[in-house]
Amino acid sequence: MGSSEAALLVLLLCSLLASILPPSAPLGFHCSNSSAAATCLSLAGYVSPNATTLAAVQTLFGVKHLHSILGANNLPLSTLSNSTVSPQQTIAVPFNCSCSNSTGFSYRRPVYTVQSGDGLDHIAREVFSNLVIYQDIQQANGIVNASLIEVGQKLWVPLPCSCDEVDGEETVHYAHVVAAGSSVSAIAMEFNVSESTLMAINGIADAKSLKAGQVLDVPLKACTSAIRNDSLDSYLRVANGRYVFTANNCVMCTCDAANNWTLDCQPSQLKPTNWSLCPSMQCEGSNLFVGNSTSTSCNRTTCAYAGYTNQTILTALVTNTTCAVSNNFATKDIFRASSWNFFLILILSLLSFHQVK
Ligand SMILES: *[C@@H]1O[C@H](CO)[C@@H](O)[C@H](O)[C@H]1NC(C)=O
Ligand SMILES: *[C@@H]1O[C@H](CO)[C@@H](O)[C@H](O)[C@H]1NC(C)=O
Ligand SMILES: *[C@@H]1O[C@H](CO)[C@@H](O)[C@H](O)[C@H]1NC(C)=O
Ligand SMILES: *[C@@H]1O[C@H](CO)[C@@H](O)[C@H](O)[C@H]1NC(C)=O
Ligand SMILES: *[C@@H]1O[C@H](CO)[C@@H](O)[C@H](O)[C@H]1NC(C)=O
Ligand SMILES: *[C@@H]1O[C@H](CO)[C@@H](O)[C@H](O)[C@H]1NC(C)=O
Ligand SMILES: *[C@@H]1O[C@H](CO)[C@@H](O)[C@H](O)[C@H]1NC(C)=O
Ligand SMILES: *[C@@H]1O[C@H](CO)[C@@H](O)[C@H](O)[C@H]1NC(C)=O
Ligand SMILES: *[C@@H]1O[C@H](CO)[C@@H](O)[C@H](O)[C@H]1NC(C)=O
Ligand SMILES: *[C@@H]1O[C@H](CO)[C@@H](O)[C@H](O)[C@H]1NC(C)=O
Ligand SMILES: *[C@@H]1O[C@H](CO)[C@@H](O)[C@H](O)[C@H]1NC(C)=O
Ligand SMILES: *[C@@H]1O[C@H](CO)[C@@H](O)[C@H](O)[C@H]1NC(C)=O
Repeated sequence: MGSSEAALLVLLLCSLLASILPPSAPLGFHCSNSSAAATCLSLAGYVSPNATTLAAVQTLFGVKHLHSILGANNLPLSTLSNSTVSPQQTIAVPFNCSCSNSTGFSYRRPVYTVQSGDGLDHIAREVFSNLVIYQDIQQANGIVNASLIEVGQKLWVPLPCSCDEVDGEETVHYAHVVAAGSSVSAIAMEFNVSESTLMAINGIADAKSLKAGQVLDVPLKACTSAIRNDSLDSYLRVANGRYVFTANNCVMCTCDAANNWTLDCQPSQLKPTNWSLCPSMQCEGSNLFVGNSTSTSCNRTTCAYAGYTNQTILTALVTNTTCAVSNNFATKDIFRASSWNFFLILILSLLSFHQVK
């Protein structure tokens, strides 16, 4: 038997074994195939087991730009990449979530290279601090025998995530590893989500069944934006108190609940990627630029960021009526009241006319 035939046989055996492997739990969180987006920005709360640096966390998770991590943690943009991360400190790691077959996970990232002495369980528990279980890594990489991994082998670590809206609102799904001694109510309070939503979304029937090391899907409310579905960054989601850069770094968007949960985008001061210069950010038919607003008596018009394409930055003039709504009702009511009075007077005068006659 030649070596190629032997290899074929091994392959065949492997696929046979793979098909009889016990069915493992699906990777990732529930992400319905009918959700508006199949890809979206997501977060994972990485609790560093050891003292490390932001740069090391960035490398471990394969995040392209440090400013993505800074924005996800609302750290100042001036924060250096060699800044220390203390043991047990939590760093929110941003990544793109991909949904298919009703589950969401980070697609083909991060990639971890096996070091000598590593085992899958160690990688899941100690390196990625329980964000995944070893079976997830095994399944994602089609590994038949979990004990058989080689130094230098590249493993895809499928982080759990989702793109589903929650209660009809855009949501950033945050993967949270339950700490020892924590509780559903403490987690709900920490992330400003309702206990009932947290339990429902994670299929927790009994709050007491929560286990340390378990990964919870924490639905953080995201800001609404004018970003179009056909924009290259339609995947963007920003939760309260965080910021992102988009449109090849030309635009910076901040989410602040105090701004009525509306994404606030401005031209950034960063050097663009892919473009030599940032394209125009002026709203058509106006002298407003992205982020500018004007107010008339009752309307506030904002030049909102609406996404980008290969060549351009899309904008939209958004007008919010701030006081006209209630004023309108008031004037209508007065009008209605006065017209009723008018009819009453008319009827009364007609009646009196009859009497005189
Ligand atoms: C979602 O999946 C179900 C079952 O697999 C299928 O019937 C349905 O058409 C899918 N919906 C979308 C929007 O893909
Ligand atoms: C981080 O790097 C800067 C220069 O890039 C250096 O001045 C500083 O000492 C470094 N800090 C640490 C903690 O290594
Ligand atoms: C998500 O994907 C987009 C488009 O492919 C990319 O520009 C962006 O950097 C990715 N974000 C992260 C955090 O990986
Ligand atoms: C989709 O998920 C179901 C159950 O989780 C599984 O049985 C099925 O094989 C999966 N299909 C694909 C194409 O991955
Ligand atoms: C943290 O330290 C432990 C013990 O030295 C080690 O096993 C583990 O791999 C380290 N984790 C990371 C992310 O460096
Ligand atoms: C997996 O590999 C290890 C080490 O080679 C071996 O001892 C073990 O029996 C194998 N397990 C299975 C289920 O094949
Ligand atoms: C907490 O959530 C509620 C409801 O979504 C919201 O009204 C409130 O502004 C949030 N508070 C903070 C601090 O995010
Ligand atoms: C916030 O949004 C609501 C609903 O869109 C609107 O009625 C309200 O006027 C807004 N508040 C402010 C301060 O803009
Ligand atoms: C409009 O936005 C640009 C860019 O952010 C800024 O430089 C300019 O001062 C703003 N103009 C007004 C009138 O707010
Ligand atoms: C305010 O906006 C409404 C609709 O958005 C428009 O009909 C109205 O003319 C605007 N009023 C002013 C003063 O701009
Ligand atoms: C946008 O850029 C991508 C990659 O460079 C290219 O494949 C695509 O054709 C471009 N689309 C347009 C409309 O220029
Ligand atoms: C403007 O109006 C839209 C839709 O009515 C609303 O969603 C948004 O929160 C408003 N923005 C502000 C800043 O009030």
